[in-house]
Amino acid sequence: MIRTTLTAALLALGLTGAVQAAGSDGEVINYEFPFEGPFGSYDQMQLQRGLQVYTEVCAACHGLRYVAFRNLHDEGGPGLPEDQVAAYADFYEVWDPALFDGEGDFRPATPNDRFPESALSNAPDLSLMAKARAGFHGPYGTGINQFFKGMGGPEYIASLLTGYTGEDKEEAGVILYENTAFPGGWISMAPPLYGDDVVYEDGSPADLESVSKDVAAFLMWTAEPKLNQRKQAGLTGVIFLSILSVLLYLTNKRLWAPVKARTKNGE
Ligand code: HEC
Repeated sequence: MIRTTLTAALLALGLTGAVQAAGSDGEVINYEFPFEGPFGSYDQMQLQRGLQVYTEVCAACHGLRYVAFRNLHDEGGPGLPEDQVAAYADFYEVWDPALFDGEGDFRPATPNDRFPESALSNAPDLSLMAKARAGFHGPYGTGINQFFKGMGGPEYIASLLTGYTGEDKEEAGVILYENTAFPGGWISMAPPLYGDDVVYEDGSPADLESVSKDVAAFLMWTAEPKLNQRKQAGLTGVIFLSILSVLLYLTNKRLWAPVKARTKNGE
């Protein structure tokens, strides 16, 4: 019995090892993000800058179909004022099947609508990409490395955007661009960022690395919008449990004190 369990466990470890080896092709730089670590949280200004990069560059091809415009107002997210959210949504057009006597028509989006789907059919939706590409699994896929280095998803996205070597080639009619972070090394997305793509209103640096990190942080928020609240709840839980442990320890001591006293007296 023990032997079969052991073999199964070893097999499982071996398998996860193999899967990891297959995925660890690309080189992911361990960028620092403010939302890492047990006390980390999103930087509202960074999320707003990332939204700007997404809107001005990535939205041409990629959708965010699981994100509603109204969430841009959320606390712990980009925190845009409500009127700005409405103005932002108004830029987009959505298909409304109820319009035009049930035949459907386009109308300007409202805060209750979601971002459109990808405009380019072979560009994946980015809503959950930061979690889909989580990395840093650590030995045997245990996830230990995520604890120290962060999730790996936003790091991967930032590494992907900064990882173009400038080389390209054509294969079966498709142009592929060499990229050090992309598994396999060749991606069909042309370099979307060069380093002078956006102008930030708050005067933050807009070089390639900063802009890549900002949009990666924004995509981490779209994939995990409640991260701040989750961390806060976790911390409250830990504090609560620590106090409870002390109280239980004292109660336990008190309860057994008469018995201990008796055994000491040799009764
Ligand atoms: C011109 C269209 C276009 C633009 C603009 C564009 N992308 Fe892409 N993107 C693509 C295509 C096409 C793919 C699929 C590439 C592939 O699988 O070879 C892709 C793939 C991706 C992937 C997934 C890579 C993977 O691991 O599968 C990420 C992440 C990504 N893009 C992020 C971005 C970000 C962030 C921006 C904005 C800064 C952006 N893209 C701008 C077309 C675009």
